[in-house]
Amino acid sequence: MNINYGYFRKPFLYEMKIFETINATREHVHSLSNQHLTVGFVPTMGALHEGHLSLVRRATRENDRVAVSIFVNPNQFNNPADLEKYSRNIGADLELLKPFLEEDDFIFAPSVAEMYPIAETQVYNFGSLAEVMEGRFRPGHFNGVGVVVNKLFRIVEPLTAYFGEKDFQQLAIIRRLVSIEQLPIIIIPCPIMREPDGLAMSSRNVQLMPDHRRAAPLIFETLTKAAGKVISASPEQLRQFIISTLNHTGLLEVEYVEFADEATLNPVTSWAESENIRCFIAVQAGEVRLIDNLRV
Ligand code: PAF
Repeated sequence: MNINYGYFRKPFLYEMKIFETINATREHVHSLSNQHLTVGFVPTMGALHEGHLSLVRRATRENDRVAVSIFVNPNQFNNPADLEKYSRNIGADLELLKPFLEEDDFIFAPSVAEMYPIAETQVYNFGSLAEVMEGRFRPGHFNGVGVVVNKLFRIVEPLTAYFGEKDFQQLAIIRRLVSIEQLPIIIIPCPIMREPDGLAMSSRNVQLMPDHRRAAPLIFETLTKAAGKVISASPEQLRQFIISTLNHTGLLEVEYVEFADEATLNPVTSWAESENIRCFIAVQAGEVRLIDNLRV
């Protein structure tokens, strides 16, 4: 992977702070708050890539201290096989984070038992935000995200938290979570990072078989073509164009494609319905499910 450390590369002369328990994390968080230092937070499920590092880089610029969590949250996987094959390599993740973290920055990497000592029962009402697209195809997923992010926010107590726009619907859910829970946290959306061939960076990309990896850039290419045709075609015509282009490869299978309002995430049937429309897509590429989105 080609990592751009930029001018943030720091000499690494100290042990990185890695906490596995909530108590140890809280103790450190309280010592930072006693010194009136702000914390910027990047929650992750590990399998880090340049997309995550761009969030960490931004968090280091905009806060006194930075926290990164690494926790593969079982509660947000609606498919057990997906959970099992999710890439985990904490050693590699720490190596990638090393150049960015200073002495008082920290990593929170708890076990499942630490995060869920008793079975979780919290049920959120995210309204229609959780019913469309990812919510429709991954039942329970956003509740699981809400539960874990709320726990993480209450442990890390950040001023700001950074989320990538690849998971655009997740971002809307997190904003709703912050208002439901009345948390004093600023949510910062960050642009999608792409491979040189246009494929949106994702921890799942490493699971792609070579043929599927070669076909996958067509997703962004086709979304970009569709975005260029909005003057001459309706949302439904462009949906059909995207579905037939991608399914025609025999390697990609569209699960859904929607043109939707960026705030409500409600699908639109005409361009006049909203000033802020984004195209959202989920595609099955062999065993791997990929998502992407593009403002049109
Ligand atoms: O986007 C992710 O990696 C996860 O959904 C998150 C926000 C870390 C919660 O587990």
